[in-house]
Amino acid sequence: MIRIEDNLGRRFEKLRVSLINDCNFSCVYCVSEDLTDLNGHSFPEIHKDKHLDLDEFVRQIKAVHRLNPLKSVRLTGGEPLLYRNLIPLIGEIRNLGIEDIRLTTNAYYLKQKAKKLVDAGLKSVNISVDAIEPEVFNRIARFGNTSRVFEGIEAAVDTGMNVKLNAVVMRGKNESQIIPLLEYATQLGVKIRYLELMKMGHLYHSDNNHFFSEKEILETIQKKYQIEPLPRKQAETAHYWKASNGGLFGIIANESTPFCHDCNRLRMDSNGKFYGCLSNSHGEKLTPYLSNDEKLAEKLNGLLRLKQPVKFHGSELSMRNIGG
Ligand code: 5AD
Ligand code: SF4
Repeated sequence: MIRIEDNLGRRFEKLRVSLINDCNFSCVYCVSEDLTDLNGHSFPEIHKDKHLDLDEFVRQIKAVHRLNPLKSVRLTGGEPLLYRNLIPLIGEIRNLGIEDIRLTTNAYYLKQKAKKLVDAGLKSVNISVDAIEPEVFNRIARFGNTSRVFEGIEAAVDTGMNVKLNAVVMRGKNESQIIPLLEYATQLGVKIRYLELMKMGHLYHSDNNHFFSEKEILETIQKKYQIEPLPRKQAETAHYWKASNGGLFGIIANESTPFCHDCNRLRMDSNGKFYGCLSNSHGEKLTPYLSNDEKLAEKLNGLLRLKQPVKFHGSELSMRNIGG
């Protein structure tokens, strides 16, 4: 067996696949305020990327899994619910023997799809929701719609699927929503994770003045609730706390508490380019090596070496292409 492991003992156990770089929202941390991307293309033009077809997605995942057994696959985007063959893809990934299949979505189309997704074999869903108050939400997501998002979240909870909420916290935009989000999640019985703002895509060259730190998030919560830290599980991006209202919350603090040292993630974008680390702005196609074990292992080991030792400093790549 060819071992794909780096000198920190890191391996690829979780594959994240961006299915489509299109999205029906335009969150301010993902698409710049004036609705242009990093290259100055106006909003409609970033929609043009062509994604792989179903068979090609499956072929790529299969080849990697055969050589480097994967524990889970997370389907992301852009917005993965816009990808037409999502249900068949979930079935095909299960046929490869990968049971743990997850999804990250903005939940706009989740209400009508939740049941079908679970029936296809989806095990868990992370939902991006940055505010409870509609005005705050809409100022961030722009083409968002809170009632559809909350209906989507609740439909997912009703299926019995594992549901987690993700909120990116930004100074001057939604720090007022930290407590309402915690209370909403607690009432629903789901975990919420707050994310420190990462300098991805159009934010890469910015001075990050909306950054709101882990410490500030904790202080905000502690003004209302007592909190107790929980032990961190290996390779988990979030640290978790229990709050005195009974809620469980986590913080993904890329800046304050980096988590690169035991990162086990490999990423593929919707064009089939692989990335060993979120900080790589250029991916590599593995298509020419899929049936050559030695060469593929060499390539995967090469990608592994691109992981940061401690923390990453952002990337010109937008989350829309790499899916977080
Ligand atoms: N910083 C932090 N989180 C981000 N996300 C997208 N862009 C950024 C950013 N610049 C989040 C989304 C989603 C997750 C995959 O990544 O809100 O929840
Ligand atoms: Fe869409 Fe997610 Fe980017 Fe928001 S962060 S614009 S929901 S891809």
